[in-house]
Amino acid sequence: MSRIHIVEQNGKKMLMVGDKPFIMLSGEVHNSNSSSVEYMEQVYDKADALGLNSLLLPVTWELIEPEEGKFDFSLVDGLIIQARRRGKKLGLLWFGAWKNAQCYYAPEWVKTDLKRFKRAQVEKGKNFIRRKDFYGMPYTTLSYLCEETKQADAKAFSMLMKHIGEIDRESQTVIMVQVENETGLMGTARENSNEADAIFSAKVPNEFASYMKQHTDTMVQDVKWEVENGAHEGSWTEVFGNCAEEIFSAYYTASYVNAVAKAGKREYSIPMTANCWLDKGGAPGTYPAGGPVSRMMEVWACCAPNIDIIAPDIYVQNFLEICDEYTRRNTPLFIPECATHSYAGPREVYCIGHYHALCYSPFGFEDMGQPFSATQSYLFGVDVEDPALKTPMNVEEYGWYTRTLHEMMPLLTEKYGTSDLQAVSCERKEEDKMLFGTFGFQIALDTPMIVRKDSVCMILKESEDTFYILIHAAAFGYFSTDSDRPNVDVLALEEGHFENGIWIPGRRLNGDEVVNTMYQEPTLLKLKLFAYL
Ligand code: DGJ
Repeated sequence: MSRIHIVEQNGKKMLMVGDKPFIMLSGEVHNSNSSSVEYMEQVYDKADALGLNSLLLPVTWELIEPEEGKFDFSLVDGLIIQARRRGKKLGLLWFGAWKNAQCYYAPEWVKTDLKRFKRAQVEKGKNFIRRKDFYGMPYTTLSYLCEETKQADAKAFSMLMKHIGEIDRESQTVIMVQVENETGLMGTARENSNEADAIFSAKVPNEFASYMKQHTDTMVQDVKWEVENGAHEGSWTEVFGNCAEEIFSAYYTASYVNAVAKAGKREYSIPMTANCWLDKGGAPGTYPAGGPVSRMMEVWACCAPNIDIIAPDIYVQNFLEICDEYTRRNTPLFIPECATHSYAGPREVYCIGHYHALCYSPFGFEDMGQPFSATQSYLFGVDVEDPALKTPMNVEEYGWYTRTLHEMMPLLTEKYGTSDLQAVSCERKEEDKMLFGTFGFQIALDTPMIVRKDSVCMILKESEDTFYILIHAAAFGYFSTDSDRPNVDVLALEEGHFENGIWIPGRRLNGDEVVNTMYQEPTLLKLKLFAYL
């Protein structure tokens, strides 16, 4: 049994590493960088500048099993030793059969044996297509129905986890693993081989059909309607109506991923996640069909019990709506990939303060602070209306946010799952109040005197009258909620910082500064209030 696991505190999930709660203030590296330990040195320099306490690194099937049955863990060893030396925890990303709904990282011996390791037929009889819906882009991926692939993938992953268990059980450098990357199938809602057709028109497994019928409460509307109105048993179409094809893909994809995760956990059990390429409202196949999108969450919950967390990759502008969607089933927020524009820092604070997130990790953090590439602009949906989306996140500022949150970690995690830790964001200006028992706070998130538009404010209640306030591009006001003691004095206002959860005060701000509570720069404050009649 490993000492890295997920526990529940005040009804919320928390990641425990060596019996201490840990928040992953992470960054995911560009796909190719962790294939060279030497190259990673400069990546760690950037991670240090950003204050990251952990990194998410790909580990690929092709490099650990270049020949069937012959495993090479020298790169993995190098990456783990390096992370220890550089003082970081690691989340490893298992790029097995899936990488962005394709099979880029499957070993040569898998890719070249199409008989044994079957490809998904997006179009009947075809192992390869050019996507009509996406600039004729070439597309192929392995079949989620292929037992041989599933077993080979699971075997390789189990060997990896066995090896990590052998070398890392004591020092606990690797604290989680993502199983596969952005699973699913593009260009179609389900595979179209003869075999797939036969399974699709056969009976839905009873247990699965009844699980779905019993879990409609949390389903998104159209899926719920189809599941509630479908037959109790019968073919996939009879039971799941218009959602049958996507549910079919999700059933087989989640079951595949679960088999891989289960094989890994049998060797060394640490928390495992599955990340998600989000759907943007199009038909399944315009996003990877069968992947863990919110609409398929109940399927994944049923078929992939060995996956602890479904983790959305969030590049879209409606970031907070996605966070809401991925937490509304009382599931924890774990973001392995997000954008590096100037909302990155404020969003990190909001994810911790509001959602009590387990992980926040910008993708390609190596580039933070640099002008966006064309791909990044496309991915981030850079919007001319909102300058904050066009502006790269400032490295120094991000480093300040991350270091501050890291040093506050004991205090933050103590408050996870309680209303003593709250936050407001400029991306949700209508929610500008926070109530904490005797006192409340009103935050001005958008006033003409504030230059920046990426405001955020997180407040942690230490005791009934004492608060820590992390604020940026905003002003705060306070009030009493006690009608018998409606007047409020500031007894003490200080700026300062934390070291290992201990407050180190800086300047005392009880003069003019107590009147002007507007902060243009990220600032951490401690405030003591007094309510009286
Ligand atoms: C999402 C994938 O999960 C990452 O590996 C990477 O390919 C990014 N997209 C690129 O933007």
